[in-house]
Amino acid sequence: MNYFLTTPIYYVNANPHLGHAYSTIVADVMRRFHLLDGDECLLLTGTDEHGDKIVKAAEARGMLPKSFVDEMSGRFRDLWPTLDISVDRFIRTTDKNHKRSVQAFLQKVHDAGDIYFGEFGGHYCFGCERFYTEKELENGLCPQHLTRPEYIEEKNYFFRMSKYLPWLKEHMERHPDCIRPERYRKEAMAMVESGDLEDLCISRPKSRLTWGIDLPFDDGYVCYVWFDALINYISAIGWPGGGEFDVFWPGEHLVAKDILKPHAIFWPTMLKSAGLPVYRHLNVHGYWLSRDAKMSKSLGNVVSPLDMGRRYGNDAFRYFLLREMHFGSDANFGEDALVQRINADLANDLGNLFNRVLSMAARFLGSVVPPRGEMLPRDTAIADLAKESMENWAQLFRNVQFSQGLESLWVLVRALNKYTDSEAPWALHKAGETKRLGTVMQVLLTAMEKVALLCWPVMPKAATRMLEQLGSRTKPAKGTLAKVMASFAEYPPGTTLAPSSNLFPRQEAPVADAAPAGDASGKKGEHAAPDAGKKGGGQGASPHVVPPDSSGDGATVPVTIEDFKKLDIRIGTIRAAERHPKADRLLRMEIDFGEGRLRQILSGIAEHYDPKTLVGRQVCALLNLPPRKMRDLVSEGMVLTAEGEGGVRLLTVDGPVPDGGVVA
Ligand code: MSP
Repeated sequence: MNYFLTTPIYYVNANPHLGHAYSTIVADVMRRFHLLDGDECLLLTGTDEHGDKIVKAAEARGMLPKSFVDEMSGRFRDLWPTLDISVDRFIRTTDKNHKRSVQAFLQKVHDAGDIYFGEFGGHYCFGCERFYTEKELENGLCPQHLTRPEYIEEKNYFFRMSKYLPWLKEHMERHPDCIRPERYRKEAMAMVESGDLEDLCISRPKSRLTWGIDLPFDDGYVCYVWFDALINYISAIGWPGGGEFDVFWPGEHLVAKDILKPHAIFWPTMLKSAGLPVYRHLNVHGYWLSRDAKMSKSLGNVVSPLDMGRRYGNDAFRYFLLREMHFGSDANFGEDALVQRINADLANDLGNLFNRVLSMAARFLGSVVPPRGEMLPRDTAIADLAKESMENWAQLFRNVQFSQGLESLWVLVRALNKYTDSEAPWALHKAGETKRLGTVMQVLLTAMEKVALLCWPVMPKAATRMLEQLGSRTKPAKGTLAKVMASFAEYPPGTTLAPSSNLFPRQEAPVADAAPAGDASGKKGEHAAPDAGKKGGGQGASPHVVPPDSSGDGATVPVTIEDFKKLDIRIGTIRAAERHPKADRLLRMEIDFGEGRLRQILSGIAEHYDPKTLVGRQVCALLNLPPRKMRDLVSEGMVLTAEGEGGVRLLTVDGPVPDGGVVA
């Protein structure tokens, strides 16, 4: 199938911010998903450059509109590749071809008898570039900008939109998924049924504004910026005149709820009047809020997408945006929540899975994939789960339910970690059960290759690295999804794997960011706090030192020396060490801190150390934590570790120190 997707074309009066980046990232994710799903894809974005507010912004910079829009449009166009967004077409409403299309469209609608000349007075908001009726204003103010509109009376051209409203109502009834999620279709339907919609004023007299496209039938007027802007969706693909238009139209649109009305009401009626088919879907998302308000330049609460991408890596940032916001609802942007997600979902779940499996393959198999042996029911259960999870993922992504889709993929990721725990490849290796070890590693690698591919729409670079680390021959390309979903075949024996993986380093909490993330509807998003007990984070486990090459900018929480003194970190000698009888990742140690007794400390380092080699070694541990029970055993402190190239390493001293020596 041909799949044509558009983002809004953004106003160039301000720099791109997180809200613009979100729409364009989602569009890129949808494009990549549809490509894997076998579609021929075309993604369009661009800039909206006409109208009053652009002129005002140019004046404020002391620039002519043309040089101003050239510069600002470039900022949008250049941002997208730096966020790993692959755009196929970039349109500017000042392009010659676009102007020609708009004039052809206007002429067509005029010829159909759907444009008339009339007198009009209304409340005009320059921010929105539109007239508001009394009813639409809130306390006399524009509901979007909270500013008082200007009352303007003038002669103008009107599009007979009201003529097409009965048809639009029927269209929306006949195509229940034309606007999704459903709540926005209902909202659009309510607008149509309210009886408040009037004909659309589509011109501005040149006496007031010259920065626009001339009406083909009256050169005393320019076209209303919204009428001009909406036509970009077909002018960019060559309308009128066939070419890509014939191949790709009808396409689908992606917008936020702020511009529901032009897309749900103006645009389909315009298309109908011009005798063109209506779009397939209008996908509507909510707002990213910052400190509970919609991000906007005027409120001074914008988040820079580039900063976030640079600080945390584009993949992690994109994952967070897609996972955190339930498509359609609002969400608060908080750096704390971003870090939590990275640590919980990416470092602990996904990154850990890759690192432990590849490290074990290196240690037990020389990084060469063995053949698969007999599949036991617990192995086929993983194969079944992989199938189910991929099918759910694909269905949910098709329905623009990205957060839920990622969650269903993570069901598989978490199950693979559990499977590793329960099948304990290290124990199979120790017992010399080579065949069974081969099968377990096979099951893991086959499933991990599928996970890597399914991560590609959201995290293209990390997914490519995962596939490389797996020595995979699967390439994210048109139609790959069907092949990967078709079977749970043996992973090609003899494939060489990477010796380890450090895809998502753990991140430090940001300096000061109290804003919580989640659904701003009041319901907290279900972002999981890093699961300390399960994954070995937190007490009794390893508070990893973040490797210096992590994409962080080195930001840490400032503390005073007094704060530091509160930490009781001491040197002790390990007197005994063994595996925790009930948790594969944990070691149980008895450590002498010169207290006249041995302290029991549990640590999530079982995969990295043979307990026998630890006895007699000196380690650093934080002692003044409340005791904590982990799988029936109590941990009375936390040994300190750092994440190295080949896995977790214990912090120690470079010469003997009396037990109980204070770290200061
Ligand atoms: N130029 C018009 C669109 C014309 S489309 C034919 C316009 N431009 S805009 O620069 O204001 O962009 C609005 C769009 O930017 C929203 O619909 C949404 O896609 C994105 N966002 C801007 N702020 C946003 C948030 N705070 N949150 C989420 N997305 C937001 O309207």
